[in-house]
Amino acid sequence: MRNTHSADKPRLWAVIPAAGTGTRMGAHVPKQYLPLNGRPLLAHTVDKLLGVETIEAIVVARAAGDFYWSSLSCARDSRIREAQGGDTRAQSVLNALDILSHEAQENDWVLVHDAARPCVMVSSIMALIEALKDNDVGGILASPISDTLKRTNGEQVVTETLNRHNLWAAQTPQLFRFGLLRDCLQAAVNSGELVTDEACALETAGFNIQIVPGRADNIKITHPGDLALAECILQQQLQEA
Ligand code: CTP
Ligand code: MG
Repeated sequence: MRNTHSADKPRLWAVIPAAGTGTRMGAHVPKQYLPLNGRPLLAHTVDKLLGVETIEAIVVARAAGDFYWSSLSCARDSRIREAQGGDTRAQSVLNALDILSHEAQENDWVLVHDAARPCVMVSSIMALIEALKDNDVGGILASPISDTLKRTNGEQVVTETLNRHNLWAAQTPQLFRFGLLRDCLQAAVNSGELVTDEACALETAGFNIQIVPGRADNIKITHPGDLALAECILQQQLQEA
């Protein structure tokens, strides 16, 4: 494995891919702009990352023709930057990394967090950063699988029961060294390989990805029913705080 450390203390940056269209949500606006407890979903997500004071800057990747972003007050925060989204999530993240390329060093850290996960706790992000501080590569928040998992054929008939021992549901944030993430994502995009998260691009390149156990309530808002659940989770978190 390459040694990516330099003598300088690495700095921390963040990227929020927010350029998707929310096809599975099927709403009249992209899901990141749907209201959650009266505020746009993306505003909740950005505020969670702004709550991590050690992040130097947060780059939000937005779709071309996204007219909603500028109405968010967080869009004018001094630590927020913008990037043009890409056709795929991986390309959106690459475009955001490019915005940071003049400032970020190879061994700096970059947190990538889905716009669609507003329920992440700042304490979980801090736990991820702390757990990986001596790691050369990086890692991800994930939660252990508690359901019994079935594989089916095309007719929804069970063909196999998977042993859930050692199975995890990958979440975001995912935290990696800046240069490594950029190179592995670029290689994945160049090869046409479908990568649905950053970890996948680094795994393919042969790097070891550390799992850091997170909370099961860090859900990704995907389908209409997820909105009411996320509202309950956010209200519960306010009481915990
Ligand atoms: N994303 C992005 N650029 C893309 C596709 C997705 O920045 N070209 C972002 C989404 O905005 C989201 C995150 O990646 O915050 C995770 O993607 P997903 O949950 O799949 O969101 P969508 O692609 O918008 O939803 P769907 O797959 O249902 O269309
Ligand atoms: Mg998608």
